[in-house]
Amino acid sequence: MSSPHEDLLALRSEFPVLERTTYLINNSLGAMPRAVHEEVATFARQWEERGVRAWHEGWWEMAATTGDLLAPLLGVRPGSIAMHQNVSVAAAVFFSCFDYPPERNRIVYTELNFPNVMYLAEGERRKGAEIVMVPSDDGIGVPTERLLAAIDERTRLVPISHTLFRSAFVQDAQAIARRCREVGAVLLLDVYQSAGVLELELEAWGVDAAVGGSVKWLCGGPGAGFLWGDPGLAPKLEPALTGWQADEEPFNFRPGPIQYAETPWRFLTGTPNIPALFSCRAGYRIVAGVGAKRIRERSLALTTHLMATAEAAGFEVRTPRDPARRAGTVSVWHEEAERLSKELIAREIICDYRPRAGIRLSPHFYNTEAECDHAIATLKELAFGR
Ligand SMILES: Cc1ncc(COP(=O)(O)O)c(C=O)c1O
Repeated sequence: MSSPHEDLLALRSEFPVLERTTYLINNSLGAMPRAVHEEVATFARQWEERGVRAWHEGWWEMAATTGDLLAPLLGVRPGSIAMHQNVSVAAAVFFSCFDYPPERNRIVYTELNFPNVMYLAEGERRKGAEIVMVPSDDGIGVPTERLLAAIDERTRLVPISHTLFRSAFVQDAQAIARRCREVGAVLLLDVYQSAGVLELELEAWGVDAAVGGSVKWLCGGPGAGFLWGDPGLAPKLEPALTGWQADEEPFNFRPGPIQYAETPWRFLTGTPNIPALFSCRAGYRIVAGVGAKRIRERSLALTTHLMATAEAAGFEVRTPRDPARRAGTVSVWHEEAERLSKELIAREIICDYRPRAGIRLSPHFYNTEAECDHAIATLKELAFGR
């Protein structure tokens, strides 16, 4: 009998690691597309054969154009995404656009944020920022009302994770964006755990800016992060963390101050990470080709199945039950989760462990129910010996 997901299953052959493992770690490092070999070889060939001419034959533009492949997945227009090395750098460029007058000096985020942004925000104290960290009661999510109440006329920036890395809890981006606009705060959404697995409509939701990276659901590998800015806001921003790629006439080598180029160039810095920009494209093309809607439908079916199977096997699941609040990962708790995750990996069931979350299992569009069943059956045997 043919499967309703035949076209997705056909794509499994594009990801060689799926032949050798039960690969359920797409929230950490998505499977490598086989086409990456070709992309990396193209980079090396161009460098070898074209030498310095390669800059003028495509390399120079790559940090400003590669993001166009992501535009449909983020729900933003082309020509608005700048590529960076990672979220840290992309967010630091964004932070560097702001100052903190005493009457509007607060940075608001939740205690469940990925720590990157918290570390950056701590640095902003030197510029006069005050940090407001909104607590969680259960370690899974933060009540939206509590977060909205913390955002007021004193708030300058709201740099928060859209999907929380530990629990896969999805924060209500639209409500948070609305609140930010009401009070004149700026929302920076970290969509790392969302891009490529959820349907995003950043522009329509009224989000001001977003950062993310490629290693997870986008199957793009390390070294390629991104910064998107809303077209209404981006042209007004002037990053202090900058470089010659951001100048409108970089080859004039003008002494300072910089004259910022149009978006997205104005958010770039120095020499771009060309090899990473080659290697990320294969994954972007496949993921965008499948499309966020289709991926989300399949992801919900797989995570629902995985949660039910884990609970039936006797495990506590530390992931939101409400599908609207759940992204692509299922966190399965056990007192000995760390040891068990290692035992699973030793059996070629690839997962990871995070303190207070447990074993994270994260099927992508190319995974199957049978793989989820195999992971839980093995885990059950390891944990309970039956
Ligand atoms: C929500 C979120 N933000 C950021 C990161 C990583 O950021 P960076 O690209 O700076 O390594 C992760 C990685 O796990 C994440 O889950």
